Formats: sequence, C-alpha cells, structure tokens
Amino acid sequence: MNELEAKLHEARSEGLAAIAACGDLAQLAQVKARYLGRQGSVSLVLEQLGQLPKEQKPVIGRLANEVKRALEEAVAAKRAELETAATQAVAVDPTLPGRRHRLGRLHPLTQIFDETVRIFRRMGFAVEDGPEIETEWHCFDALNTPANHPARDIQDTLYVDLPPHPQHGRYLLRTHTSPVQIRTMLKQRPPVRIVAPGRVFRRDNPDATHSPMFHQIEGLYVDRNVTVADLKGTVEFFFKQLLDPATKVRFRPHFFPYTEPSFEIDLSTPRLRAAGKEWIEIAGCGMVDPNVFSAVGYPPDEYTGWAFGFGIERLAMVQYGIPDIRLFTENDVRFLEQF
Ligand code: DAH
Repeated sequence: MNELEAKLHEARSEGLAAIAACGDLAQLAQVKARYLGRQGSVSLVLEQLGQLPKEQKPVIGRLANEVKRALEEAVAAKRAELETAATQAVAVDPTLPGRRHRLGRLHPLTQIFDETVRIFRRMGFAVEDGPEIETEWHCFDALNTPANHPARDIQDTLYVDLPPHPQHGRYLLRTHTSPVQIRTMLKQRPPVRIVAPGRVFRRDNPDATHSPMFHQIEGLYVDRNVTVADLKGTVEFFFKQLLDPATKVRFRPHFFPYTEPSFEIDLSTPRLRAAGKEWIEIAGCGMVDPNVFSAVGYPPDEYTGWAFGFGIERLAMVQYGIPDIRLFTENDVRFLEQF
C-alpha cells in the first residue's frame, strides 16, 4: 500500500468517526470542511494524483472517489439527524411558558338580566317571555293604547310585512316587553308574579343614545288587594339589591295608557352622586288599568296589580358611565372585559 492509499483509508475512518461525533450543525460544517473542503485531506490526495505512475492513477483515483462519496453520505445523514432533533427539541421545550387561553365572560346586559331574575325569583316571581314579532292587539289595544296613539305610528313602530292576523291585526316588532303581561294573563289566573326580560325594537336611527333594538325588563304582579305600597316597596328593594344598598328611589306622577295611576321611577345611586348627578329617570310603572284586566278577561273589580318596565341599556349606561349605546352590540373585547 503506498502513502496516498494509506492517507485515504485514514481520512475515511477518521472522517466517519468525526462526523458521527458531531453534536450540532456548526461542528458538522467544520468536519465537512476538514475532509471534503478545497484544502481538505481528500482534495489534497486528488491534487497529487497527476504525479503518480500511470498504472497507479486509476486505482488511487477510484479509491479517492469512494472515500469522498462515503464521507459525503455520512455528512448528509448526520445533517438530517441533527435537523430533526433540533425541530423536535423546539416542539417539546418544557421551559417555554404555557399558552394562556383567554377567559370569556358574560355580556354586561346578560349579567343585569341574570341578576334581575335572581332577585325577583327570591320574591316568588317566575320568568316569562313572549314573541318578538307581536300583533297590534297584544302590543297596543289590549294595553289600552288607543288607535291614534303616536307610538303606533309607522314613524315609531316597525311593522312586519305579513297578512294581518284576523282578530289581532297587523304584525309588528314589539316596541316594549309589556305585551308579555297580556300573554301571561291570558294563559293563567291570578295570582300572577312575573318578570319578562327581552329584546324590543323601535324605528330609530342609531346614534349614541338610540338603537333600533334594545332590551327591557317587564314586571307584573296581580292578585287581590295589591297596592301602590307593594309596588314602591318591591321596586325599591329590587334596585337596592341590583345596584347598591344606598340607592335612593323616587316616584314621580306620569302617564301610561296601561296603568292608572302611573309613575316614573328616578334613581340616585352612590356612583351617580359621586359623578355629580342627582336623579336619573330609569323606569315606568303603575297600577294595572282596569281596561287591561277587561281585555284579558280578569274581573276588574276583583283584582288589582302593578307593572313596571325599564330599559337595560339605559340603566347600564347611567350606572357605569357608558357613553354610547352602540358599544353593547359591537362586541369589542376591550369594552366587554371591563364587566
Ligand atoms: N312600556 C313602557 C316603555 O316601553 C315601560 C312601562 C311603563 C312598562 C309602565 C310598564 C308600566 O309595565 O306599567 O317605556
């Protein structure tokens, strides 16, 4: 064996061992240069090939190519192995912080609904609902609202393009939750104690304080000997529970077609007082008008009752200082996560 042959054998065994020992890609690149680079041991042998006797050239040449290919294959295999190890190491790196799931929460209006229902349930009230597409009769006539009342105008009410109901007139999107009073009394006899949360619709152009869709809660209590004192006591207890025990509640005479007498309810909460506001008008209420009892077949001289209704968006806006009603429907997490 001549000197060059010996060098090639040595390059092969040492090279393969060095490649196998590489721990990362940088080391592998260095080893590759040492054996296969332009100044590498195999290249140096190939350079000297020209000076060899004629009969030795093919033998050494073939051996040199063999060694070169063996080393190249070993480098490629080692590179693949190191690259796989690198990606796997990233995928299972136990020192990386875990991925946090963002916690959702209930919409502020849902929270007010839930809390309202919870408070009234403790006082023996049940929850009722009714259709959002109502009839003129349930929404207005049965509630003692005359045919020429401005609320019924197509300027204010969204009528639905359907053939009218034979007895109950045109279909419309309910403008308040009060028709749930009618539907409840039609299906049961007193005593009636219900709250009815739901969506209502009015023909309004959206701006900071108007929305064509918003939410109300209706309350109704009917029995023998129900008085204004029951109304005041219940409403006051409710708002103190919902908002703050230091909430003050005030009743002002008003008019609604379906109650007599009727009142508007003003609130003063510590939060509002701190913001420099005294009284905020928040709800309507009153003693159920005898004409409403007649419409649902309750003898008006036997029963009395009270009812109230108020808008949830408005309550949330005054209580939390929300400047624009459209925030409730935009679903911006920066808004929602504050509640
Ligand atoms: N329906 C009224 C409104 O939409 C609120 C209301 C007032 C409801 C008086 C009542 C009530 O039940 O007795 O503004």
